[in-house]
Amino acid sequence: MIKKVSLSLLSVAALTLPFLFAIRGGSIAKGQQFFSKTDDVVSTTRGSGQPAGFDRAITANNTKMINDGRQIFRYDTFGDEAFWGDTIHLHQAIAGSANGGVGGGVSPKTALAVGLKVDADALPAGVVQGVQNGTISLDDPKTTLALLQLNAVVGLTGHFSSDGKITSLGIQCALCHSTVDDSFAPGIGHRLDGWPNRDLNVGAIVGLAPDLSAVDSLLGVSDATTRQVLASWGPGRFDAELFLDGKAFRPDGKTAAVLIPPAFGLAGVNLHTYTGWGSITYWNAFVAVLEMHGKGNFFDPRLDDPAQFPVAARNHTGHTTLPEDQDQVTPKLAALHDYQLSIPAPTPPAASFDAAAAARGDALFAGKGKCTSCHVEPLLTEPGWNMHTPTEVGIDSFQSDRAPDKRYRTTPLHGLFAHSKGGFYHDGRFPTLLDVVNHYDSFMTLGLSAGEKSDIVEYLKSL
Ligand code: HEC
Ligand code: HEC
Repeated sequence: MIKKVSLSLLSVAALTLPFLFAIRGGSIAKGQQFFSKTDDVVSTTRGSGQPAGFDRAITANNTKMINDGRQIFRYDTFGDEAFWGDTIHLHQAIAGSANGGVGGGVSPKTALAVGLKVDADALPAGVVQGVQNGTISLDDPKTTLALLQLNAVVGLTGHFSSDGKITSLGIQCALCHSTVDDSFAPGIGHRLDGWPNRDLNVGAIVGLAPDLSAVDSLLGVSDATTRQVLASWGPGRFDAELFLDGKAFRPDGKTAAVLIPPAFGLAGVNLHTYTGWGSITYWNAFVAVLEMHGKGNFFDPRLDDPAQFPVAARNHTGHTTLPEDQDQVTPKLAALHDYQLSIPAPTPPAASFDAAAAARGDALFAGKGKCTSCHVEPLLTEPGWNMHTPTEVGIDSFQSDRAPDKRYRTTPLHGLFAHSKGGFYHDGRFPTLLDVVNHYDSFMTLGLSAGEKSDIVEYLKSL
């Protein structure tokens, strides 16, 4: 028995180690296919005639998929430097004219101020010391370049020439869907994958790029308009639908960008995004190809509708095809999917809510509040088709009309404490959880007392 266990561990190590070396060697950025097919996994354990053989293959496969998926989520650019670097030249704005780029450059202080995060685990001891004793300047864009060279800026990969000049830049999923625990300093700490970065000002960062003409022509607008739209997003927001329908502002004049959602606690949840575009893997392909501008195939004929998606229909966005040997996205979707399914929602600190009130709120959530009619426990979204018309949740249809099903997806509520910054609902229209509960109370005429409302809030904080 003991022999069998150690054998299976060995086979996991055998699968994982070459992969890790492949990463160190930097093959990921080149989009190499680095995970073996399930068939290979099966053949290593088959032949023993043991019924446990395939079970071991499943476990080994799972371990490998999660490890691969983590690397992809954190470090893979899917070849998108062709856009962020080679097309819009964002790396030049970061470098600044003193370092071969344009403008004043982006110092670490500025980078942190626009919400970029630094992975403390990627910093060598010398750098940590230098930051602490002030010999490394946080006001100099050169330091930002050095951090990029260390692969320490969460979600950004810089490419450098042999003489140390930055030549291009790519972005990763982690840019928007990871933050850090601030353990070293504000904005610098251990990675927290799946936590939305609600400090990140995507629009301000993209707006630094010297050449946005590719975006202007995609949207069919002037450069000034593109820059005005990017400046309107603000921290913690991004507008994935802008590049499909060209709608930058809501009828009330506010930005059409939505809050960056968590990428944790998603296992068991059917449809994803605020408006239920599809599964996790659907959306991963969508984002990697259409938003990050990674090199990959993407197929969705729903985008051919010129009335709902004029920009996408004009640009044939739903039919993005590349020869198989150039596709740097599709081979990674399986592991990326598995990894996100494995990221648990974080548990709120015990002291952050009143446990007795939360217990009362739990009963109200299922009882008088009627919340479980949609937020079905323990998933906190509906098993099945988890979508609602705007009138069913008492809000306007602006954002739901921008998606194929014209509905809102019931948000799974675990880990709310980790993304309270920026407010609640897709556009942050409710600044606090009490505002959310007040909305349901009046819209659904629940007749909740002030005490009951506050109990439900404590319950929400405990999730
Ligand atoms: C520029 C910021 C940004 C980047 C980069 C990004 N996302 Fe997102 N992500 C968003 C926003 C904003 C949404 C909400 C979209 C909507 O509902 O319209 C979202 C939605 C999601 C969702 C749905 C979450 C839910 O509650 O259903 C998942 C899963 C996700 N992203 C994963 C990824 C992965 C994986 C990558 C890398 C391939 C990625 N994202 C890259 C901003 C980003
Ligand atoms: C008819 C179905 C339905 C009912 C009933 C319902 N919800 Fe929701 N809930 C939704 C949908 C759909 C959303 C997403 C709305 C959006 O993002 O615009 C949501 C969003 C939320 C959010 C915001 C989550 C976030 O991350 O922004 C909270 C909190 C919430 N609901 C709590 C409750 C509570 C508490 C109740 C009971 C008083 C309740 N819901 C009843 C469907 C429902």
